[in-house]
Amino acid sequence: MNIRKIAYRVLRKLEKDKRFPTEEVKDALSRMGERERAFFKELVWGIMRRQIYIDWLLNRYLENPEIPPGVRVVLRIGTYQLLFMDSVPSYAAVSESVKLVENGNFRKLVNAILRRISKDGIRVPKEIHLKYSHPKWIYEELLKWGSIAERIMEDHLKPLPVVLRVNTLKVSRKSLMKRLLESGIEVRETDHSPVGLVVRYNGDFSKFSPVKDGLATVQGESSQIVTFILDPKPNSRILDLACGMGGKTTHMAEYTRDSSDILAIDDSSEKIETLLDNCKRLGIRSVRTAVMDSKRVSDVFKEKFDYILLDAPCTSLGTARKNPDVLLTTKPDGPKKMGKIQLEMMEVAYKLLRSGGKLIYSTCTFTQDESTYIAEEITRRHENLKSLDIRKALEGMKIDYLWDGYGALLLPDGNTLTEFYISAFCRV
Ligand SMILES: C[S@@+](CC[C@H](N)C(=O)[O-])C[C@H]1O[C@@H](n2cnc3c(N)ncnc32)[C@H](O)[C@@H]1O
Repeated sequence: MNIRKIAYRVLRKLEKDKRFPTEEVKDALSRMGERERAFFKELVWGIMRRQIYIDWLLNRYLENPEIPPGVRVVLRIGTYQLLFMDSVPSYAAVSESVKLVENGNFRKLVNAILRRISKDGIRVPKEIHLKYSHPKWIYEELLKWGSIAERIMEDHLKPLPVVLRVNTLKVSRKSLMKRLLESGIEVRETDHSPVGLVVRYNGDFSKFSPVKDGLATVQGESSQIVTFILDPKPNSRILDLACGMGGKTTHMAEYTRDSSDILAIDDSSEKIETLLDNCKRLGIRSVRTAVMDSKRVSDVFKEKFDYILLDAPCTSLGTARKNPDVLLTTKPDGPKKMGKIQLEMMEVAYKLLRSGGKLIYSTCTFTQDESTYIAEEITRRHENLKSLDIRKALEGMKIDYLWDGYGALLLPDGNTLTEFYISAFCRV
């Protein structure tokens, strides 16, 4: 199996469609052994992380930067191996890349440029966003949060270890950790989430026995924090307005000991199907689902809820460590567009929240249009919707954050916590 060729195909597709080919990658990974998987992941994810920087560097060497897109993809593959992968000898990085060039007229050029880059090594651009391989507009969004911008961009360059959320309906974190250690898996507790485990495992997680047997769910540490902030009590009525595959829905079910009545809604039937599979896997019975546009839920459901979670569709820029393609495919008008949808969903959440009920609005991003602006606007529109101060709860979990007066942007801790915006409200 030629891993570089598969990487080329994936990156070429990303370049062409401006969309990460998730299904193709999943399929390719399932056919790889452990070492091949690790090499492929380092190459593809590493290139996406460094692509903006690599393109800047390549343009220093190209007399005419207008080369065929496939040739540029090969040059990125070669450059990444030369500058960022110690495991690949330079001669192999160059010769294997030249073999990937489909258009024979460009082999000589690729060979010459890669040899020069191999000799010259890393060069540092003056512009800070290029140094950290970010689009300028994303850097400018980060700057709105102040001097933290550079730290966040630097954090995005590091791979993100996989975190599991322990299913406390079936097992405690301590005993699952003990079991994993006994079977030779490197594992440690997360620093902030009380139910997280950081595991070192290169295989397919859907076949990993604790996940397969319903003892745990793969879920980022920041996502795990949301349920602790919502803090739903057992036997309550809970609405999840954008449940996706149920990462947070199932957490809320575990948190309330499967005693609540949880209505989970998403407009994707595939995601709802996966959520139902997840409930079965985890032994959860307290979730009912509906496939529909959440913006219309209040026309259909008249009941009021004690707790509502709107983990809103967003640009997902805070997931850049896990999905670095977001830095390459998100358009500058994305935050405004998503913000508009989020505000409509928040109106629905407001309508369905009972008096005294608690609402969480969260996004896995950091743009103002998808955080502060929405929290500010919804409280401005509704006098009886009060913003709750969640700072103590975050500090209780030793989380570093920036507070905007309504909610908090969780900050990366250099380990497994990544940016996430969380705000809480109460209807009085
Ligand atoms: C951030 S994701 C949710 C992730 C999920 N809460 C979790 O923890 O796994 C946002 C979800 O909103 C859904 N969505 C987007 N627009 C929607 C709409 N108008 N109505 C219902 N769901 C929508 C998407 O399908 C996506 O699953």
